[in-house]
Amino acid sequence: MEVPKLQIPAPRGTNDILPGAQFKWQDSARWQHLEAEIARICHQYGYAELRPPVFEHTELFARGVGATTDVVQKEMFTLMPRGDEEGQTLTLRPEFTAGMVRAYLENGLFNQSQPTKIWTAGPAFRAERPQKGRYRQFHQWDVEIFGAQDPAADAEVIEIGLELARRLGAGELLVSLNSLGCPVCRPVYREQLKAHFRPVIHEFCSDCQRRLEANPLRVMDCKADAGHPAQRTAPLMIEHLCAECDTHWKSLQSHLRALRIQYQVDPRIVRGLDYYTKTVFEVLHPNLGAQNTLWGGGRYDGLIEELGGKPTPGVGFAMGMERMLLVLDELGVAPPPPARMDCFVVALGEAAKERAVGLVYQLRRLGLSADLDLLGRSLKAQMKYAGKVGARYAAIIGDNELAQGVVALRDMDAATQTQVPLAPEALAAAVRAG
Ligand code: HAM
Repeated sequence: MEVPKLQIPAPRGTNDILPGAQFKWQDSARWQHLEAEIARICHQYGYAELRPPVFEHTELFARGVGATTDVVQKEMFTLMPRGDEEGQTLTLRPEFTAGMVRAYLENGLFNQSQPTKIWTAGPAFRAERPQKGRYRQFHQWDVEIFGAQDPAADAEVIEIGLELARRLGAGELLVSLNSLGCPVCRPVYREQLKAHFRPVIHEFCSDCQRRLEANPLRVMDCKADAGHPAQRTAPLMIEHLCAECDTHWKSLQSHLRALRIQYQVDPRIVRGLDYYTKTVFEVLHPNLGAQNTLWGGGRYDGLIEELGGKPTPGVGFAMGMERMLLVLDELGVAPPPPARMDCFVVALGEAAKERAVGLVYQLRRLGLSADLDLLGRSLKAQMKYAGKVGARYAAIIGDNELAQGVVALRDMDAATQTQVPLAPEALAAAVRAG
């Protein structure tokens, strides 16, 4: 395939979503199918769509996601709007949860009957080093429940993601679960963790040395130091939960068992965002290589208050849409059948062309998908093109047909031909009947 060398290629870590099955996960038909399944499942589970803006005040993410997280410290695309008197910077959303909470508060959604069950899907931006499955512009399907403390809400957001994956044909997935406790039990545990690692921290990577005092939990999920003996003997949060967190943790697991969801407890999952309390989870696919986390989420009972609301619990997750489509490719899941064009109008000669233009517009108005040649091709070339674009029918108009007031309607699959009156309603009826 010949491709020109462009002076201005797409920015690193972005992807075009393209027309055509040959583009695999970048095929727009696969995206439309995924988006349609997302909208359908959200409706079935009682979630309404909320679309926050693509950028927010930087402060929202610093406060919401956490000032010490990699996302905020290293990965934000921050903009300085020209002529902005307030002098505040804006940031392209690196995730949705903070913006969803802001929109919920700013628009008074808490005044409606609770809980608030909302979803959204769209692009998010992180200045990460791009590789397969990790991009600078990527897409998330985000689901949130605000106002429900019940562990059944945690179980529901775990289940809805798995059900979507099942419907798409994503195969066996691995659900990993942990609890990060709450402001009652986590500070006590953090001190224990610091005391545990402090004597040996000089043997750890520089990131861990820096993190030990501010965020000791991140030391536990450091990839570079995963093999250090002190990791194996580190105290675990799930063994130090307060009574309330422990009840929540056990009850969530019994809900998951009741839903027949297989999961493993992984006490090392800490997640990269600061707002989590109690439940955290990640769903992995063995076929995805290094970037194998398809989605992740958890509970964040302090976030809504942190962003200015009344104390309100929250739980949710976000699925990486590129990663989901990559898995489906890898598994060889057949893409959705392409939506076919109903009728390609083939015209021969000036008079027929003029008639064809009007006919195509009227067919479209009647709800069919219809098209015609715009390049002045020969009859043969027009027929070939109709075949290439996958038209079900070709409606052929030449001088003879014009004189007789008919079109020759060719069934492109069966290679049979009939005559139909040259009138949009009659033609549409014949196409629909076929
Ligand atoms: P997260 O784990 O940062 O969580 O991201 C969720 C998912 O987004 C990841 O599992 C991955 O599939 C996808 N993802 C993240 N970064 C990239 C990237 N650079 N390229 C491709 N895919 C990526 C959150 O964002 C939380 N807001 C989830 C949440 C919602 N928790 C509670 N509610």
